[in-house]
Amino acid sequence: MRIFLSTTAAILFATLAAAPVQRALADTAANVAGAATTSTDGAVIYQQVCQGCHMANAKGGVGAGTIPALAGNPKLKASGYPVYMVLNGNGGMPWFSSMLSDAQVAAVVTYVRSNFGNHYADAVKPEDVAAVRGPNPTMER
Ligand code: HEC
Repeated sequence: MRIFLSTTAAILFATLAAAPVQRALADTAANVAGAATTSTDGAVIYQQVCQGCHMANAKGGVGAGTIPALAGNPKLKASGYPVYMVLNGNGGMPWFSSMLSDAQVAAVVTYVRSNFGNHYADAVKPEDVAAVRGPNPTMER
């Protein structure tokens, strides 16, 4: 029995150790949102990528986890924060840095910041997103 257990453990360990890339992929945004959208329209990107979690009215919800409301959310005031969240994710929020271009992130963040009871008039520009994204030599864009 002990031999069986340690063999099982060894196989399990070997499997886990050999599969770091697959495990990382299981958590990526692609798994959640499907194929990246080609749209550059903030409203369409919201519908295709964000709405599944944050809901059509952007009020979020509580289910298996808590999805914060983007509607009337004062944390959207400084555009750098939502840009950072969309690029890098946090907790249950997936990261989209490899799925969305600078222009797409700018469009969807601008859309969210100027709809759903948010009235932040300063549009986010692709350059703003590029600045938050920073250099990423491992990724082709
Ligand atoms: C898989 C579900 C999911 C998807 C898809 C998703 N989000 Fe989120 N989002 C979350 C969760 C969960 C959090 C809370 C993360 C945390 O705990 O910090 C969050 C947090 C955020 C926050 C920070 C809110 C706050 O009050 O701190 C912003 C902004 C945001 N999401 C925008 C977006 C946008 C824009 C999109 C589409 C490009 C999107 N999210 C797609 C689940 C999702």
